Parts: sequence; structure tokens; C-alpha cells
Amino acid sequence: MKDLLDIASLEKKQIEHLLSLAEDLKEILYRPIPKVPTLRGKLVVNLFYEASTRTRFSFERAAKVLSADTLNFSTGASSVKKGETLLDTIKNLRALGANLFVIRHPLAGAPHFIARSCDVPVVNAGDGTHEHPTQALLDLLTVKEKLGTLSGLKVVIVGDIKHSRVAHSDILAFQKMGSKVVVTGPAPLLPEPSEVSYFALEKGRFKVEVSPEKALSRADVVIALRIQKERHGTALIPSYQEYHQFFGLTTELLLKHLSEGGILMHPGPINWGIELAPEIEKFPRQVILDQVENGVAIRMAVLLTLLAGKKDENTN
Ligand code: NCD
Repeated sequence: MKDLLDIASLEKKQIEHLLSLAEDLKEILYRPIPKVPTLRGKLVVNLFYEASTRTRFSFERAAKVLSADTLNFSTGASSVKKGETLLDTIKNLRALGANLFVIRHPLAGAPHFIARSCDVPVVNAGDGTHEHPTQALLDLLTVKEKLGTLSGLKVVIVGDIKHSRVAHSDILAFQKMGSKVVVTGPAPLLPEPSEVSYFALEKGRFKVEVSPEKALSRADVVIALRIQKERHGTALIPSYQEYHQFFGLTTELLLKHLSEGGILMHPGPINWGIELAPEIEKFPRQVILDQVENGVAIRMAVLLTLLAGKKDENTN
């Protein structure tokens, strides 16, 4: 594997490898000194053309635990402001010694474009509405850890399915691992029929359900999503209050519908009072901060898989 660009092109075996490596590496995070020398001398460049808290900092944390050096790039403070192109930016950072690029970009396909013209690994940290593969991997890791399996589960994703790259990666990832995925949300935020046939990897494994109550019934995993208003153009829902009334998750709704041992997840950032009622913070079966912690372990596994043992002609 040279790059990690999307879940669509990953095989089940590759996903399993990354999950089991992350499980092994997670132990390092609990050591008194959480640091190993594995990636000493490597330079990881985080290129974020869009806002990020969890993803950016967990890539940085993961790189540092593995002793790689990191450079963090944000558009506001760079020559992108002076008109420098993405490709020129990459070439220059490569000349500065970058051994791997982590890239988040508002345009779908930007990391794929860079990967084609770049000799070092590229990791997609979210490209527009397309995919967010490391988020799906950390979601898989969290479910495996909490429920002991990834096969035969009912995974329900609630919210802005159409514009959420997290939903797109999760839909593919959970099906590849043998679970069934049901999505629900307001009609304008659901996938189009052509998208539905893209997402359904196997007959009966993917379903769009307009009724949230029906969707949630006997769910093993519920994933709530933020409404991606910044990607809507014109308004697609009447109001957030109305959204909350019909699709907001409450403790009562979850207790009524979750299967025994079922869990609630959210990729963050959360808009409390919209997709989740504020009381959910105390709901014992929400695993939102476990997801954040697993994000570091998954990103360590990704960096290690793409960088360990690789000779880089520019710097070695
Ligand atoms: C998500 C993203 O940026 O796609 N956040 C994340 O990476 N944890 C979800 C979102 O912005 O709603």
C-alpha cells in the first residue's frame, strides 16, 4: 500500500491488518513515557486546507508517539494566500524533506490527485463530501473493542448522509467487515438512487430508511452526524429545531431502540441540541471520547504501515 486514500479501494484484509496493528500499538499510549523510536528521522507534513481539531491533532500526536517529526500547515498562514497551487505547495514541502503528507481538502479527489504526482505516501484526512478513511477505521476499531465483533451488526447512521464524508467511508467500511448499514435522515440529506447503488456493496447490506424510528429499531451501533451546512449551498432543511424534533437523538429514543449492549457514536464536532440532546453526554453507552482516543492508535497504525522500512530517495 503506497497511500491511504479511501475505504472504497481497501480490501477487507488490509482493513483487518490496520485494525490489529492499531490494537497492538494502543498499549504504547498508556506507558509512563508514550514514545517509541520507530519513525525517528521521518517527517510527516499535515496539510489542512479545512478546519480540523481531532483529525489534525491525532495525526500529530500519532506521529510524535512514533518519534517522527511533524510540520503543520494551515492555509491562512501559508503562501496559498499568495496564490500558490496545491501541487507547488507539495513539491516545495517535498524539497524540505517531507516523507508523508496528510491532507484535508474541501475538494473531493484532491488527495488522489496529489498521490498520483507525488512519490511519498499520501493520507486522505477528509476530501470534501467524498471520504474520510481514517475516521471509518477508528470507528471500526471502537466498535470491535466495545462489541467484540464487526460482523452481523446493524449499524445505523443518522443525519446528513449525502454530504458527510464520514458517512460515506463508514457505509463502505462496515459492509466490508460484514455488517449491515441503514441510513436515515431528512429526504434532501439522503443519497440519490445512483449513489445508493454505489454504496450497496452486496444485496441486502445497505438500506435507506426514511423513518428514524424504523431505522433505529434493534440497532447495535448508532452513528449521529453533524449537518454539513457549509457544503449545502442553499438551505436544505427548514430549521435546526425541526431537525432536532425529528432526527435528534435523545436518551429515551436510544433506550427504546438500541439492542442490548448497543452503542452510540459521533465523529465530532457535536452540535449539542441539534443531532444529540445535551443529556446524551451522560448516556452510559455513548463512546464518543473512546473514538477520539482510538483515532490516535489508528493513525499510528496508518503512519507505521505507510512509512516503516521504506527508503526515501530524497532523504536517505
Ligand atoms: C468530521 C469531518 O471533518 O469530516 N469530523 C472529523 O474529522 N472528526 C465530521 C464533521 O465535520 O462533521
